[in-house]
Amino acid sequence: MISLLDVGFFALSWTYVLLAPYTKVEESFNIQAVHDFLSYGLLPDDLSHQFDHFTFSGAVPRTFLGSAVLASTANPFIIIAAYLNLISSKADLQLIVRLVLATCNAISLVVIRKAVSNRFGSGTASCFTLLTCSQFHLLFWMGRTLPNMFAMPLINLAFAYASMYNSSRYSIRLSEKSWKLAFWCLAFSTVVLRVELVLLWVPFLLQALVQGRISFYTIISTNLLAGTTAAVASFIFDSFFWQKDVLPELTSFIFNVAQGQSSNWGVSPFLDYFKIHLPKLLMTGLPLAFVGLLTDSRIIPILFPFIIYTALISNLGHKEWRFIIYTVPAFNVAAASGLRYLFTRRKTTIFGPISFIFALGFLAANFGLTGLLVHISMHNYPGGEAIAAFHQLVPATTLPPPHVHICNLAAQSGTTLFQHLNSPPYHSALYLWPNSVPPATPWIYNKTENLTLSELSRSSHFTHIISEQPPTSPEIAGHWNLMKAIPAFDRVVLDKELLTHKRWELPRRLFDLIRIVEKDHLWIYERK
Ligand SMILES: *[C@@H]1O[C@H](CO)[C@@H](O)[C@H](O)[C@H]1NC(C)=O
Ligand SMILES: *[C@@H]1O[C@H](CO)[C@@H](O)[C@H](O)[C@H]1NC(C)=O
Repeated sequence: MISLLDVGFFALSWTYVLLAPYTKVEESFNIQAVHDFLSYGLLPDDLSHQFDHFTFSGAVPRTFLGSAVLASTANPFIIIAAYLNLISSKADLQLIVRLVLATCNAISLVVIRKAVSNRFGSGTASCFTLLTCSQFHLLFWMGRTLPNMFAMPLINLAFAYASMYNSSRYSIRLSEKSWKLAFWCLAFSTVVLRVELVLLWVPFLLQALVQGRISFYTIISTNLLAGTTAAVASFIFDSFFWQKDVLPELTSFIFNVAQGQSSNWGVSPFLDYFKIHLPKLLMTGLPLAFVGLLTDSRIIPILFPFIIYTALISNLGHKEWRFIIYTVPAFNVAAASGLRYLFTRRKTTIFGPISFIFALGFLAANFGLTGLLVHISMHNYPGGEAIAAFHQLVPATTLPPPHVHICNLAAQSGTTLFQHLNSPPYHSALYLWPNSVPPATPWIYNKTENLTLSELSRSSHFTHIISEQPPTSPEIAGHWNLMKAIPAFDRVVLDKELLTHKRWELPRRLFDLIRIVEKDHLWIYERK
């Protein structure tokens, strides 16, 4: 059963999708693939011309399974939304896709919350929900098509099934069935989606072996079967879509780990996950997790696989918070136990009221910081804002049809294929009604890389450009008229005056204390 607080997982992650509808470069492979699946189906007839990855392939092939599953899941909702007249352009399809992904992740968090409720009681479960909702990264990114966020629901299920499900407050009663489910989730997320998750799979295997609740034979056979099935599925599906024999996560492992290429993206010190990324992801959840660890012995087996995972993955030079996002729910279970401990001291000792206030303060601090981060992130997608502004400035029926060049920054900060509103392919759901027809003269959205401004000016086929060059560049003034400047997040400033000379105004103007400063990042020009 869904509890009232669970609504927070859905409501917040949906709100974030709507507040920040555009995407960044890390999401782009999957969002473009979802677009292509929705447009051409799961069995396209002309792969190499239709699919984006043949034009813009990355360093290593990645799997199509995640985006195929997401596209298939989102498609019925797109059709329903079309019949309800809720969508009017391709950009709306991207919203639905992202909402569906956020929902899958939210459901997996509800499963964890239920498991926490069985094992730790409903008080801790509510603290888990509150804490998770108070943090920024997980819920904000849940609706973003990172491969990590495709793996996240599977890891969440594995965690719930392997650590808590069907347990009571006094004993862990994991059935063979729940272990098996956990291993299938771990195998698919590792072999198909993110190979680094092998570092989580192994500690879970060890835990199963040590706890001895299922036989050695069952463990080995289940994992072999699950791993092989996942590998075969990925090999067949992805070899078809890449038109060559490929097992993407194996290639990725060889490229990033065996050949050490991931260090090309930067190398960070060993302890950075513990010193920088976990505090960032968990906020006040980190100290609370220590409280939970110290006050409740049931927390150790919960955290064990995830601490091992974080320690093992620290050996890789290249570190990003999203590689350890999977650990957040487990740490939040520990933190929830700590939070509940602080809340329930209330009646017992003289320190009760103090710990109660601390608990509230921890939560409030998270919510405050998250509010600020959401506010900043909303202004962080200039490419998406630019293309939307462009569609407002230039009517769809303009003749001759615009041929717009989209610069690298714009392409990487939101200009996905879903934002190419006036060019085919069009999803059939967009034109359900008799009088609605796609634009007769399609526009051209051109993302050719590495063109200099003078090349753009000389190529007379470009009618418009979305450019990183400010209007002050000499080349611009000669050939292009400014249509609009697109501001985006630049920095956060603290109003020092409010803190010093005008302190008495602070309570009334609290929200003026921190200000977000924007700067123009992109400019839309039309040819003179
Ligand atoms: C995009 O621009 C490049 C460079 O000018 C040009 O070669 C290419 O034909 C253009 N693409 C389309 C679809 O017109
Ligand atoms: C554009 O330039 C970058 C860096 O100089 C290079 O890595 C990339 O391959 C170039 N792209 C094309 C299409 O030439």
